[in-house]
Amino acid sequence: VSVGAPSGSLHDELGALLGKRQDALADPYRLYSQLRETAPVFRHEPVVVLSRYEDIMWVFRNEQRFHVNGAGEGRRYEAILASLPEPEAEALREVTEFERLYVSRTDGEVHARLRRIAHRAFTPRRVTEMEAQIERYSDALLDAIDHDAPVDLIEGLTFRLPLMVIADMLGVPAADRDLIHTWSSVIGRNRGGTEREAILPARQALREFRDYVSELVRDHRGRPGEEDLVAALLDANADERLSEVELTAMFVILLFAGHETTTNLIGNGLIALLRAPDQWRSLCEDPAGLAPGAVEEVLRYDAPVQIVNRVAAQDIELAGVTIAAEETVLLALASANRDVTEFRDPDQLELTRSPNRHVGLAYGTHFCLGASLARMEGRVALETLARRFPDAQLATDEFIYNDNFVLRGVRELPVQLGRSRS
Ligand code: HEM
Repeated sequence: VSVGAPSGSLHDELGALLGKRQDALADPYRLYSQLRETAPVFRHEPVVVLSRYEDIMWVFRNEQRFHVNGAGEGRRYEAILASLPEPEAEALREVTEFERLYVSRTDGEVHARLRRIAHRAFTPRRVTEMEAQIERYSDALLDAIDHDAPVDLIEGLTFRLPLMVIADMLGVPAADRDLIHTWSSVIGRNRGGTEREAILPARQALREFRDYVSELVRDHRGRPGEEDLVAALLDANADERLSEVELTAMFVILLFAGHETTTNLIGNGLIALLRAPDQWRSLCEDPAGLAPGAVEEVLRYDAPVQIVNRVAAQDIELAGVTIAAEETVLLALASANRDVTEFRDPDQLELTRSPNRHVGLAYGTHFCLGASLARMEGRVALETLARRFPDAQLATDEFIYNDNFVLRGVRELPVQLGRSRS
């Protein structure tokens, strides 16, 4: 451990991060760097953390040796379940059984089928068709903001935009967006049963969400001929059809997966850019040209999804450590993205970085299904901000991070936008 490193052991530091202590959430990168250098395969009961690019890519390339953290698998889940009183245990089982249907939680053939169906619905054409709408929404949200005072761009822009877009794609009426948001966050707060007081509300929200989607789908069936995403999901071939409950789960995961992640892509991106004024200035000089690279660089530099989970399907030897079958493995994507063996000057934000083989959207069979949409939303938002508000400045340098070590983002993002150059 080098001079100037924080005191305390790696276990303490990692415990602070996984325990969501604010100082640890504010800067996990120093810890990631220590892990890569001194303990790249690090057992921190009940999980094993991988932090190097090469090892994480090895896992992605050897996915048959791992399960995704299929809800309700692994020793960790069993331990949580055993520690709970009824009725929490029963509620957790119900939520978990539903979550097991998410495309992100399935493996093998089931995953391949769900993924094929989702792909048919989530085509590049459908995403491209959203572009003009995303531009309109970004402009309208920014128009509604008072440009003279510091404004919170999470509330004003980054939180609203992704939900507006995915809700439109799924045929959710504008008036119901808040409902969807509330359900998603209540279900999300449950975090696989680790937050005991969140379990019963999560089951309640899930039941309401499921009823809502069933209703929406029924409605849709009454209006054949429409061409939106729900129609495409409903139209899957007879042998590749989604069951009613699978359709609901797909709907929920699409609303879920693309929401906070994209909020944080735009938020983290803006923070990183405004903290690197030379990079922000180049973006403002050529917003259309540099925004696509800016999105990739933000996905690398401050990944909105910091960590993904896997469960070992067998005993595995990696970098001299034996990972036992059924152990939960955390792949620190955000750490891989700062690994000097893959990235030159990894701690520098460089909009024109090339190559940039980051793993911010994962890799392999579970590569982010919404990647093209996420990239487009990120690009339009950063491009619009740079074009219209080149004088923008952060109104604080002390951020409060969300209570979450997986989905990294700030609770509020106060920015002084300056004069609009629309
Ligand atoms: C910046 C925004 C986003 C980031 C950083 C992100 C990141 C990721 C990551 C890291 C995974 C892999 C999870 C794993 O391997 O365990 C993933 C999967 C997924 N993402 Fe995204 N995502 C974003 C936006 C979206 C959007 C907009 C949607 C859809 C509307 C979406 C839908 C999904 C789905 C359905 C999966 C599961 C795919 C599978 O397991 O086959 N994501 N995403």
